Amino acid sequence: MYNRRKFIQTSALGISAAIATGNKARAQEGLSKSPVVISTWDAGLEANKAAWAVLSANGRALDAVERGVMVTEDSLSCCVGLGANPDRDGLVTLDACIMDEAFNCGAVAFLERIKHPISVARRVMEKTPHVMLVGEGAQQFALAEGFSLEPQQLSESAQRSYREWLQKSNYRSPRINVENQKEHGPFAPAKLSSGEWNHDTIGMLALDAFGNLSGSCTTSGAGFKMRGRIGDSPIIGAGLYVDNEVGACVATGQGEDVIRVAGSSAVVEAMRSGKSPEAACRQLIERVVRIKKEKAKDIQVAFLAIDKKGAVGSFSIHPGFSYALRTADQEKLVVAKSYFK
Ligand code: GLY
Repeated sequence: MYNRRKFIQTSALGISAAIATGNKARAQEGLSKSPVVISTWDAGLEANKAAWAVLSANGRALDAVERGVMVTEDSLSCCVGLGANPDRDGLVTLDACIMDEAFNCGAVAFLERIKHPISVARRVMEKTPHVMLVGEGAQQFALAEGFSLEPQQLSESAQRSYREWLQKSNYRSPRINVENQKEHGPFAPAKLSSGEWNHDTIGMLALDAFGNLSGSCTTSGAGFKMRGRIGDSPIIGAGLYVDNEVGACVATGQGEDVIRVAGSSAVVEAMRSGKSPEAACRQLIERVVRIKKEKAKDIQVAFLAIDKKGAVGSFSIHPGFSYALRTADQEKLVVAKSYFK
């Protein structure tokens, strides 16, 4: 009788064989022998650990990129999850999207009081005929899917930042990621009381042992934004794009300027035409700088990309952007090259 234990053994053998065959084929084609995960900013180091737990157990890239960014959604952060800075009305609204190796994708935007927007985005992808749900509809869907409605309460650090912001209520164009968010704009990393640097959007890309790519992206967007404002992060093609034959890209920084160049999709297209991940990111950053002209000195945008072979690269407008890399041999933070020095 073909019992459950045999089935599990056969399945496990099947998976091992598939991975062994995949590894051999990948080695012959010069592809990465190890799974790879990369994610934006310093917080990516912690997020990558959770993703690596999935990848190193021969899990799917899709599971890895969901689990990874959930760590950041749970953390005390200026710019991701329910602890983040609110909009001008004092309410936290969250945006996220996810994409797998087969062009399946899901997104939520302007979502309130739900802890893990990335998981709601995945449910949109897997359980609805749609790609994106927003606002009240997204929240209703999340509740119907069993997510809890969290209290509408700002974290202590968000309360402090909001009080300070209300004194001037001055929304400036987000400036570069230097020193201090209060002085330099809503996308700049803020220094936490612990002394650690906080960060912007987390975007994550993974290549799994089967050679499949997936990506995720989650944020609260710009602190003190207009109510209803949505940036690039939940927009497939802008904040995130995955084409399993070519590569994948995520964006961070000023979303408006990522959207206007269809940033992540354009980086993937540049890789399709033969550019390396870094060269493709650089091409798009140069495009943003050309479009923004002298205003480019006041904004930060960064792209982070991986190709089908597992090569990674990044480029930003200003110095200060870094990304976290994890493979079987490496776990580190990499400082990206930038247009301005
Ligand atoms: N990149 C995050 C945002 O613009 O909302």
